[in-house]
Amino acid sequence: MNERHLVECDPHSTGLANYTKSVIYFNPMSSVHKEQIHPEMETTGLTGAYRRLFALLSYNSTFIYNEKMHEFKRELFRNLPRFRSGDGTLRLLEIGCGSGANFQYYPDGCTVICIDPNVHFDRYLRKNMEENKHLCYEGFLVESGERLTHVEDASVDVVVCTLVLCSVRNVRKVLQEVRRVLRTGGAFYFLEHVVSECSSWLRFLQFVLNPLWSRLGEGCTLTRATWRDLEAAGFSHLHIQHISAPKMSTVITPHIMGYCIK
Ligand SMILES: C[S@@+](CC[C@H](N)C(=O)[O-])C[C@H]1O[C@@H](n2cnc3c(N)ncnc32)[C@H](O)[C@@H]1O
Repeated sequence: MNERHLVECDPHSTGLANYTKSVIYFNPMSSVHKEQIHPEMETTGLTGAYRRLFALLSYNSTFIYNEKMHEFKRELFRNLPRFRSGDGTLRLLEIGCGSGANFQYYPDGCTVICIDPNVHFDRYLRKNMEENKHLCYEGFLVESGERLTHVEDASVDVVVCTLVLCSVRNVRKVLQEVRRVLRTGGAFYFLEHVVSECSSWLRFLQFVLNPLWSRLGEGCTLTRATWRDLEAAGFSHLHIQHISAPKMSTVITPHIMGYCIK
């Protein structure tokens, strides 16, 4: 990324409305001012240390996950260019972006807005931005998917969530926000681990392990039937595949992937 990118991605010309400096920065090359982070996004004390460690572990595990899921991710994002706006641009919002593990799958020239409530992903995110110069980065919003207060209605072509709907507090609210910020005809892409089929041993194991798993994994839940929320979210089309993730820890083997169109 270079100066030109940053100038081209002037936030004042984007659809990010009424932003406050407390939760947003637009220059991915400069450090976020930690003291300006909204108090809701706790970054100090034990919680802060835990979130910092989670960001580090999550960053390191993305290499293994991407290696195992490479072909699935390539297939998932293959038709992204189909959702370009009439003027040929593609504006993509990634909710729960983490360290930016999906950047390599986005098409050339795509404009990306990153959102994550954990500010400690900042340094890993910038590293991935540096490595993926084929994209234009509008900035990093430190906030939750349930309340995308800084993104205008119908202002993006595509929204992406991978391994996020398992962790958010309220899946329905996130999906409502996704529909609000997507333009008509825009798409929501997802790749998520989910609960196993009824009456299976794996499902039983998921329910047994879930309390501990969730506590250690920043709220990550093993027992969500996320496809039901997607079906109920009011999209006009839903393309969904139930897959078994290869060589993955057994409890997160069942996945769903696909996209919905607004
Ligand atoms: C397992 S990581 C996945 C990161 C990235 N999407 C990936 O595929 O590598 C889960 C991510 O969801 C984020 N997250 C948790 N709760 C969230 C919420 N309510 N809204 C948005 N993101 C959230 C976490 O901070 C973390 O970055």
